[in-house]
Amino acid sequence: MIENWRDAFVDLSYLVASVLFIFGLKRLSSPATARQGNRLAMIGMAVAVVATFFAREIESNNIVLIVIGIAIGAAIGYVPARRVKMTAMPQMVAIFNGMGGATAALVSVAEFSHKTDVPGGEALSIILGVIIGSISLTGSVIAFLKLQELMSGRPVTFPNQKAINAALFAAIALLGLLALVLYQDQLTLARSLVILMFLASLVLGALLVVPIGGADMPVVIALLNSATGLAAALTGFVLNNQALVVAGALVGASGTLLTLLMARAMNRKVTNVIFGAFGAGPAAGAAAGGAAEAKPIREISVEDAAVPLAYAQRVIIVPGYGLAVAQAQHSVRELADILSQRGVDVRYAIHPVAGRMPGHMNVLLAEANVPYDELYEMDDINDDFGKTDVALVIGANDVTNPAARTDTSSPIYGMPILNVDQAANVIVLKRSMKSGFAGIENELFHHPKTTMLFGDAKVSLGKLIGAVKAA
Ligand code: TAP
Repeated sequence: MIENWRDAFVDLSYLVASVLFIFGLKRLSSPATARQGNRLAMIGMAVAVVATFFAREIESNNIVLIVIGIAIGAAIGYVPARRVKMTAMPQMVAIFNGMGGATAALVSVAEFSHKTDVPGGEALSIILGVIIGSISLTGSVIAFLKLQELMSGRPVTFPNQKAINAALFAAIALLGLLALVLYQDQLTLARSLVILMFLASLVLGALLVVPIGGADMPVVIALLNSATGLAAALTGFVLNNQALVVAGALVGASGTLLTLLMARAMNRKVTNVIFGAFGAGPAAGAAAGGAAEAKPIREISVEDAAVPLAYAQRVIIVPGYGLAVAQAQHSVRELADILSQRGVDVRYAIHPVAGRMPGHMNVLLAEANVPYDELYEMDDINDDFGKTDVALVIGANDVTNPAARTDTSSPIYGMPILNVDQAANVIVLKRSMKSGFAGIENELFHHPKTTMLFGDAKVSLGKLIGAVKAA
């Protein structure tokens, strides 16, 4: 009777946790409700973790070990999560994701090593969990190393790379299949095959990500994230833990959607991201240097930049990665407020891949309490640049590059961009003529209607605020 109550409590808690995950995820889709969504998902996870302690499968003499594990993990996770800079968030996500993959793979290996009576479906879940979890682990570690610049962000290629990867994949599949066929009669041999498969999958994960260039890394992280979700869901089947199945499935599905959305926003096919070695050729990184300096540009003073802004009817602010680097979100809001008080219609144009992570600009501007109704997604504002007096580009580069429309040889050709060049005046705030993430020159900066205000975005904005007030 007590056991029944216990099972019912655990099942009900898992159901509550799953519902909280789903509502949390839904709320993450708007900046206005994102924090609340995060909180709901956190509560869901806490409910699931606490309920697991009451599950029948947990042996009471292991509880101390589990609590110690949770305490160590939480301490290791807490400190970097508190300290991480917004701009380093992608690598943080990558490494956390890798840990998820590691957990799924290790739990699967451990389950196969100690269980003696494994049903067929469970054995399949274990084998897939090992493969997907370990690929996700080493793939995420390589993504972390590249983004953290602990290894070169450029694609690492070598002869017969794809053939080697294909052969390794075939070997992993064969090992998995053999383990599945053999495990009922020859369990010890099957366990050794699973360990081999685990090691080979670790190697494959690294080999799959090394040829991918830094520019495609966010898409890769989203893809690895969906893989981790899938591995976690498979582990949920093995452990008979419904909350894990639901959470894993949600991560898997949302990771897949994010991958597709980001690939579309960068005009890259997911298959090209995985197999394309973007930026491997010498052209992608080299074009920005000398040639850019040689072309004419119009540099402008703070006072001269303030006049068209102060007397404009419509201004569109285009934030980019540089705004995050300069931490100028509060300054940009102050400038926008002052312009609004003067009767200027001020809006923000948000490119889906501006910055270094999905929603980067939204998060940044939300931090400065920029009203959500002033933020416009690219498709909703792109037609309005033609009716705009000033496009104020702050630390954005690639997302405004007209080469994406016209230059078929450009690595960003085909990526939808903000139509900044259609505004009557373009004022660009950046520190130098250096290129952005894609490492390519931006014709916009040489356009006759573009003026450049050089300097750190926060410093320039501070001066602009003073000059607009005086205008
Ligand atoms: P970028 O093209 O990377 O350009 C940012 C510009 O900001 C640089 O040219 C830099 O020029 C300037 N900058 C840096 N620090 C600054 C500071 N303190 N003050 C003023 N300016 C500063 O940025 P973007 O236009 O936002 O485009 C994003 C790029 O990243 C795209 O290529 C996208 O595909 C890629 N990407 C996106 C994501 C996601 S999901 N958002 C993730 C990874 C990569 P100076 O050095 O001359 O100042």
